Amino acid sequence: MANGFSFRRSDFADDFLFGVATSAYQIEGASFGGAGPSHWDTFAATPGNTKNAEDGAVACDHYHRYETDLDLIAGANLDTYRFSTSWARVMPDGRTVNPEGLDFYDRLTDAMLARGIKPMLTLHHWDMPAALADEGGWRNRAITDHFATFAGHVIDRIGDRMYASGTFNEPWCIGWLSHFLGQHAPGLRDIRATARAMHHVLVAHGKTVDVLRAAGQDNVGIYLNFEPAEPANGDDGDAEAALTYHAIYNEWFLGALFKKRYPRRALAGLEPHLPDGWHDDMELIARPIDWLGINNYTRKLIARAADAPWPSLEEVPGPLPKTDMGWEISPESFAWLLSWIAESHTGDLPLIVSENGMANPDTLIDGRVDDAARIAYLQAHIDAMKGVIEEGVPIKGYTVWSLLDNYEWALGYGKRFGIVHVDYDTLERTPKASWHALRDALARG
Ligand code: FCB
Repeated sequence: MANGFSFRRSDFADDFLFGVATSAYQIEGASFGGAGPSHWDTFAATPGNTKNAEDGAVACDHYHRYETDLDLIAGANLDTYRFSTSWARVMPDGRTVNPEGLDFYDRLTDAMLARGIKPMLTLHHWDMPAALADEGGWRNRAITDHFATFAGHVIDRIGDRMYASGTFNEPWCIGWLSHFLGQHAPGLRDIRATARAMHHVLVAHGKTVDVLRAAGQDNVGIYLNFEPAEPANGDDGDAEAALTYHAIYNEWFLGALFKKRYPRRALAGLEPHLPDGWHDDMELIARPIDWLGINNYTRKLIARAADAPWPSLEEVPGPLPKTDMGWEISPESFAWLLSWIAESHTGDLPLIVSENGMANPDTLIDGRVDDAARIAYLQAHIDAMKGVIEEGVPIKGYTVWSLLDNYEWALGYGKRFGIVHVDYDTLERTPKASWHALRDALARG
């Protein structure tokens, strides 16, 4: 397997940006710096919700080790760092600002700039203050104003130095995964809660875009996740089920943001549960943005589940090679997705691949981590993306998930996505082979 990348910077436009991404709860250490409890702390404290009941209390201790971590980003010759601000750190009770929290992001921002790294902000990557979760979280429309207020505090403090500012990470996970499938905080399995969360997160996005614009931000976007869905078999039932999956996962947020409407196949199940007057929010939701972030890891094979209520579908294991998450590796689906998004919804809007990468059962042996499988995965996806760019799709950046091995949510610390290995006993960082290979590829002209 590959021990180096074959791509070079000159394969891409001069202003194409390579970066890495992380998120606050997954790396910072939620017990430091006056952060309040988030709904992820309480979700993890509930038996059975996360692997080994693991939480983000310490995580990678990035809160104290951020200088070392930023050195690793600069050392790999990367251009951008996509990081997130913790809502519960900045507003521990959801209402009062914690100055230590804003101070941390201020220091972090300056430390990025000092190293020539462009800061790409994600305002929210899932750590809602528990006090706001108590009030119904994403089910309660009041959350949209709380969020816009939080965003205003963050942007007033660090907005002047952001290269780009994104509102939300993966609204599908906030809505569907957390309220319908129950796999992430708050762990609900309730269709009414789901419909409300799927809508309110978009209302919060629209209100936040207005806040960001009023504060003078001119490079504003959102990070959506996507999974191309294919029918498990050739029959019509599976084809229809795959289209329903596609509508819920891939078209709901894109449709609202770019066409001011929700897809028919998703409304079929969700419309009865949407809040009254939802139509009136579509103008706000569809405020113009400057770029779209695209997160993608895999595709899904979907079969009809005839006896189950709407959406009457199930995921079926596919035949392709899989990562340590059990996710199929499909650069072809990634290429299809990038073209489809531009053709069907975004046109000339700049696109940024804002997450792509793989979990691998990496082991540290004699101070080295040989993650050749990760190098092969990233190279295949970069090649696929390059082909799409050559067809004219305006992709402006590529971001690896993740800088560090980190807290993989309900799966705890067992899934390693980093280009840098973390020993969770000592918190020592060791760059993996993929880090070295990236450093070399990005140094080439
Ligand atoms: C994405 C999340 C990120 C991480 C990767 C593996 O869905 O945005 O936090 O968990 O998957």
